[in-house]
Amino acid sequence: MSGFWNWWVVLLVAANIVFAVWLLLSTTSTKPGDQHAGPETTGHTWDGDLREYNNPLPRWWLGLFYLTVVFAVGYLVLYPGFGNYSGTLGWTQIRQWQAQRDEANVVAAREFARFDGKSIEALATDPAAIRIAKNLFANNCAMCHGSDARGAKGFPNLTSPNLTWGRTPEAIVTTISGGRQGVMPAWAAVLGADGVEAVANYVYSLSGRAAPAPALVSAGKEKFDTLCAACHGADGRGTVALGAPNLTDAYWIYGGTLAAIKETVSNGRSNRMPAHLELLGEQRVRLLAAYVYSLTPAAAP
Ligand code: HEC
Ligand code: HEC
Repeated sequence: MSGFWNWWVVLLVAANIVFAVWLLLSTTSTKPGDQHAGPETTGHTWDGDLREYNNPLPRWWLGLFYLTVVFAVGYLVLYPGFGNYSGTLGWTQIRQWQAQRDEANVVAAREFARFDGKSIEALATDPAAIRIAKNLFANNCAMCHGSDARGAKGFPNLTSPNLTWGRTPEAIVTTISGGRQGVMPAWAAVLGADGVEAVANYVYSLSGRAAPAPALVSAGKEKFDTLCAACHGADGRGTVALGAPNLTDAYWIYGGTLAAIKETVSNGRSNRMPAHLELLGEQRVRLLAAYVYSLTPAAAP
């Protein structure tokens, strides 16, 4: 809070309390128990004979009112609320949230401890571990990979037999922990429209389908061998270390129609899997890795 708003709040709060006390004192000039001959009036008269009585406020009501003032002052001493003054307890919303989160983490860590030291492969066949991991997946991963983990355009299907970044337990843990960034360069400028057409037809044919323009395939293969093989491999099966996908299987991250392949090759693709280790901690990451591992069938030979 800037200096001005600090003083604004301080003065406003202080003025309110002082005003409340003043109001109490000024309206209780007649104390309970004061002796008067007959009912005391304020001296105001309306309609000829309608007089305003000045009866004392009930004691219990006054007491409550004073109590709220004392409470307000006590609250402002203990908790933040009086301008920039942070209160003697040092309470903040963030600290409260952190304390609750730490508490929940301690409980979770105890709950997850029974999975420590077990291999990812073993966890993948442990129903208790998978049940927890499924919930973790729904909360942390499903918004991108889908609740069934089958992904969507641009978000990999985790039930595919060829995980681009590797299917070994270590590779999956690394993917989830540190995230991944896949970058496919754009080739429109290098290849020109004809070149893109040719190489796309070749890529189309790699997964065992008849290319829409078979005459272009051999020219496309030549271009592929010089420009693409470095990342996707001479046989088109991809390179795990680069996150370059296998182009010979039936699964496509960005679509396997000729048009989709041409778009990928022309404009390139870039995508990022966010890192999750700091967010989730190692125990959760290992459970999630086991879940992903349980979803992906071993790659076809
Ligand atoms: C913000 C969206 C997003 C979230 C959230 C997300 N992912 Fe991903 N994930 C991606 C993208 C995009 C990729 C592909 C990265 C690339 O281009 O290679 C990916 C890739 C992966 C891969 C590698 C796939 C392969 O083919 O090798 C795995 C495994 C994975 N994610 C698991 C998870 C798990 C488990 C979670 C939950 C903890 C998660 N992801 C949360 C977007 C997300
Ligand atoms: C520098 C390495 C690199 C080179 C060179 C490269 N690619 Fe890629 N390619 C990738 C990566 C990485 C991805 C995955 C992008 C992502 O995860 O977002 C990819 C994705 C693709 C896809 C999408 C696959 C799918 O499942 O949807 C196609 C098709 C493709 N590349 C074809 C080609 C062709 C054709 C060439 C040559 C003209 C080529 N690539 C050159 C790295 C490369």
